[in-house]
This record gives sequence, C-alpha cells and structure tokens, in this order.
Amino acid sequence: MASTQEPEVSASMASTQEPASAAVDPENPLVEGLERLPVAPTTLTIFGATGDLAQRKLLPALYNLAHEGGLPERFHLVGVSRGEKEHEDYRAECEAAIRNFSRRAPDEEVLKGLLEHVRYVPGMFDDEAVYGELQKTLEGFEERAGCALNRAFYLSTAPMFFPVIVEALGSQGLDRREGAEVRVVIEKPFGTSLQEARELNRRVLGVFEETQVFRIDHYLGKETVQNMMAFRFANGMFEPLWNRNYIDSVQITAAEDIGIGSRAGYYDHAGALRDLIQNHMLQLLCHVAMEPPVSFTAEEVRNEKVKVLHAIGAPLDDEVAGMAVRAQYGPGHVGGEDVEGYLEEEGVREGSITETYAALRLEVDNWRWAGVPFYLRAGKRLARKITEIAVTLKPVPHLAFSQAGSLGVRPNQLILTLQPNEGVTLQLGAKIPGTRMMIRPVNMEFLYGTSFLSQSPEAYERLIMDAMRGDPTLFTRDDEVEAQWRICDPILKVWEATPQALAQYESGSQGPEQANEILDEGHSWRAI
Ligand code: BG6
Repeated sequence: MASTQEPEVSASMASTQEPASAAVDPENPLVEGLERLPVAPTTLTIFGATGDLAQRKLLPALYNLAHEGGLPERFHLVGVSRGEKEHEDYRAECEAAIRNFSRRAPDEEVLKGLLEHVRYVPGMFDDEAVYGELQKTLEGFEERAGCALNRAFYLSTAPMFFPVIVEALGSQGLDRREGAEVRVVIEKPFGTSLQEARELNRRVLGVFEETQVFRIDHYLGKETVQNMMAFRFANGMFEPLWNRNYIDSVQITAAEDIGIGSRAGYYDHAGALRDLIQNHMLQLLCHVAMEPPVSFTAEEVRNEKVKVLHAIGAPLDDEVAGMAVRAQYGPGHVGGEDVEGYLEEEGVREGSITETYAALRLEVDNWRWAGVPFYLRAGKRLARKITEIAVTLKPVPHLAFSQAGSLGVRPNQLILTLQPNEGVTLQLGAKIPGTRMMIRPVNMEFLYGTSFLSQSPEAYERLIMDAMRGDPTLFTRDDEVEAQWRICDPILKVWEATPQALAQYESGSQGPEQANEILDEGHSWRAI
C-alpha cells in the first residue's frame, strides 16, 4: 500500500526528456547503500579551466548536474588558466564546450542559470597574484551570500603543477575556511613512480588533511564499476563460488581502438602500464577480489581494496619477463581506415620504446585467491573498444555425456562488460534441442540498455558531486595509490633498464602474439 505520507509519483511528474526507469518497481523500493550527504553551497574552482578535460568532461558534467538539480542552490564556478580573457569570453567558451560535449542537448534556461555564476581568473599557477585574485573572487561570492561557502579546488592541469598549486593554496591561506569545508580534487596521473607518488602525497598532505583530498580515478565513477559492488554484495548466489575453489582465472581487458591522437606529449612519457593499468585496471581487480566491506563507508571500502593490493607481491626483477609483456602498435587498419603506427604518430620521440600495450599476470596471495591468475591487458589501436572482466570457473569434475555430447561443455564464464553494451553475461552449457544429448554454450544476459531505460550519468558527474559532498568512497586514498605503484614500479624499472625495440602488433588486431607467453597452460585471451 502506498504510504499516506509520501506523495505517489504521478506520470505527469516524470521528466518529459527521459523515459521513466523500467526498473523502478513500487513493490521493490530502491536500496541505497549510503545515507547521501547533502551538497552544501559551493564554489568550484577549476585550475586548467580551458584544457581538454575541462572542456570535454568537467563542464558538460556540471551542466548535467545542473540539469538534474544535482548542484547546490548556491553554486559558483571559477575558471583559472593562463590566457588573458574577460569573464564573458570564458562564459562563451564554457557554453560552447557544453553544447559540443554534453550527453544531452542543453535546456537554455538551465544553461543560462549555470553560466551566470561563472567567473574567470587569468594567470600562471606559480604566480601569487592569481591566488590573491581568486581569494577576492571567492570572498565576493560569500559577501553576496552572507555566509561562508564551501570551496572545492579542482586540479585539472599538467601534473607538474599539482604540488605548485596545492602549496600556493596553503601559503595564501586558501586551504581552510572558517565555517565551511575546503576540498582539493587531484586529477591523474598521481605521480609517475612510487617515489613520485610518495613525494606528491607528502607535499599535498603537508597542506591539506587526507579527508580534504579527492584523488580522481574516473573508472570509479562509472556506473558499471559501481555495479560490481551491487553484483557481488547484493546477491547471495555468487559469494560461495567467489574463491580459489571454484574460480580458475580472471581476465580483465581494457582495449581501445583509438590511437594516442594528439596526446603524444603526455603518452610518450607514460605508456599503457602507467596510463591504464596502474590506476583503472588495478581498481577493477580490487573490485573483483576485495572482501565484503563491513559497511559502504569510504574507509571500510578503501581498507578492503588496499588489503587486496597488499596481497599482490611486487615482482622481483627476474620475474618480470615471465609476468609482463609490452608492445607497440604498428600501422594497420581500424574502423575501415588505414592508420599509422605509433612511431609515426605526431610528437612521438624517434625510436620511442613507450608501450601502447601491456599485459600482466598477477596473483592475489591470500586465503581466498591464492593460485588464481589475474590476467590484465590494456592497449590502444586494438580491434575494438571493450572493457570487460571475465571470470572463468573451474571445469566440472566429471563428464557423464558421450564424447560427442561433451564437446560443447565449457567451463562457466561470467562476463561483466563495463563498456560498451554494458551488462553481465553468464555462459552456461545447454542441450541443443534434438534427439541426441549435445551440449553447447549459451548466454544468460542482463543489459543495462534494456533493463533500465534511462541514460547513465557520466563518471565525472558522480565524482564532482561526491567531491563537493565530501564523500571520498569513489576516490583513491594516499596509501591506496602508493600500493598501486608498489606493484607497477618494479616492472617499469626492469623495462626501462632493457631499452630494446618493442614487439609490434598490427593496428586493428588482437594485440601481440607475445601476450600469450604469460598465460598458464590451457588459458587463452578472449577475443577482443
Ligand atoms: C584515461 C587514459 O585515463 O582513460 C586514456 O588516460 C584512456 O588514455 C581513457 O583512453 C579510457 O577511459 P574510458 O572511460 O574511455 O575507458
């Protein structure tokens, strides 16, 4: 029976822009893991406000939050960047970015409302005057509001400026505000080695408390990654199987068909291991391997992830060749077009040995997972874009079928597709209809697209909102980021000490042959 206190949602109240969710069933109220903290009035300052990330992701995310009523009633945005320009010009740039990159066509009223609260502060990040101007702008908003407003500083700049900005915020007294919260959001990459990450943590935590720091890994903001928690911890049926007794191996793939585009300046110094594996893919591994947290609070969830990372041994020098493979894309054919190889891409150093593909075999040495290989691979210019986790169960112990009937019996596989075609597939053996007992694999499938008829928010929408709310669950903690580097650092060191030309794979292919060398006997990579 509908409660008399809560108004029923009538059809006429539903937004006309989006279909109502098919999954909302009045008999089964939705379950939220956490009490959602409200978003207090906030001024968000973006350093690097005219950069690619701000234009393509942050501004559209802010617009979509505004559209959905997710921003606080009092919200201001300040853009800080090098170029001299008027507030009006910056507003026009924001508008263009939103129109070009927002996932929904903007509603003119909402857009206008958002842009009215945008200001611009020009200057170099190491120039004290910038922070004085910023201080004045923030105080101006607060005077008009008649109270202190929360402040969030988003560092969307080249990484060399992270410590510079953080320390300037500290020395200019912008790191604390009486009567309000101050938070700093730091983009990736968080260091390029364990030593750099430690140093960056030391400098950031020399100014801010850990509770004020929000380190971004945008994969954590993805719906499908959050669903892994729901999948594992809201369903009883998987837990009994989720261990070394039943699981044979786990394969995590982040394949992309795109090349490095115009990002050679960054990518040629990073490579696939730093760019994707050290952060996003190790996070995915943690989601598969972590123990159920006692509660979904930031500390409990992150404690469990850190335990997983600690259970992965840092490889010794002489183990690296047997557990890690690197390669570079050569010329080839992708999406119906001929494309150049990595070494021909604009901005790539001559004879560069930066890997555009990396594959690892890791083990999580604890009671639950000992002996189960976790294979990770990430690469650019592969056959298609797909991010998935495939969990393969052990084969059945005995086959009672005839030889012909047994041929189609395969170990069960559970595939979590993170993107595109988001969903979960369980591969089972089933009898082919007919007079004989013949088995073949079939799929049981859940697809977001058909189960929930609504569009998922972009990762950055969730993350910006959580940072403003002060909920760090979906952000990487200081010890977590260091634990991730602890695993990758020795591999990078061995690779850097052996600077031979890398194996090549054809663009548009499945990746290098050499990737097979790290697989245990009987294992193979799934087709991309
Ligand atoms: C970024 C990497 O962190 O993730 C990029 O720097 C990569 O190189 C991107 O393309 C992939 O993200 P997504 O959300 O498209 O899977």
